Amino acid sequence: MNKAVITFREMVPDDAAAVEVVEKACFSVPWSRESFWREAQNERTTYRLAVDEKDGRVAGYVGCWIIDDEAQITNVAIHPDYQGQGISRRLLENLIEVIKARGAERLTLEVRPSNTAALNLYTSLGFKDCGRRPHYYENGEDAIIMWILKL
Ligand SMILES: CC(C)(COP(=O)(O)OP(=O)(O)OC[C@H]1O[C@@H](n2cnc3c(N)ncnc32)[C@H](O)[C@@H]1OP(=O)(O)O)[C@@H](O)C(=O)NCCC(=O)NCCS
Repeated sequence: MNKAVITFREMVPDDAAAVEVVEKACFSVPWSRESFWREAQNERTTYRLAVDEKDGRVAGYVGCWIIDDEAQITNVAIHPDYQGQGISRRLLENLIEVIKARGAERLTLEVRPSNTAALNLYTSLGFKDCGRRPHYYENGEDAIIMWILKL
């Protein structure tokens, strides 16, 4: 696929089905459409979508909870059709601008040690490895806890 022209916008409840398509393509234990529908209505979240300008297709999403000055990424996914085009990096940069404007000063996430692509992405954005949650994932894998302590 040629490099897509991507724009970023906030998820609304009507996007839940399109986000579920991305989710199912990326994860073996995907969140449900209903979860995204609910998250889109939660005042303490922001979900940013990467949208293909050509046809409005949702290429990827990032979700984040914001509690006071602290934010936590719930998930990031780029549909395989759109991976390797620098979209997740721009999507996360867009998220950081949005959460800073909402008062967030610190940002955290969890990631599997086996997920090299995600680890490289987060490290390149300034996230630091700050600890482990043992046996966090459904297959017994630990989670690496990462932080950006000053956005
Ligand atoms: C991880 C993921 C979000 C990256 O999205 P992407 O848009 O393809 O990534 P980008 O093209 O923006 O690349 C950004 C950086 O990520 C890293 N990266 C991306 N794909 C990679 C790969 N296959 N191998 C190693 N590093 C990779 C690189 O550091 C890259 O920077 P570089 O191109 O300057 O080297 C995507 O692979 C994905 O959705 N995976 C499945 C879901 C998932 O694992 N989500 C994260 C859960 S914690």
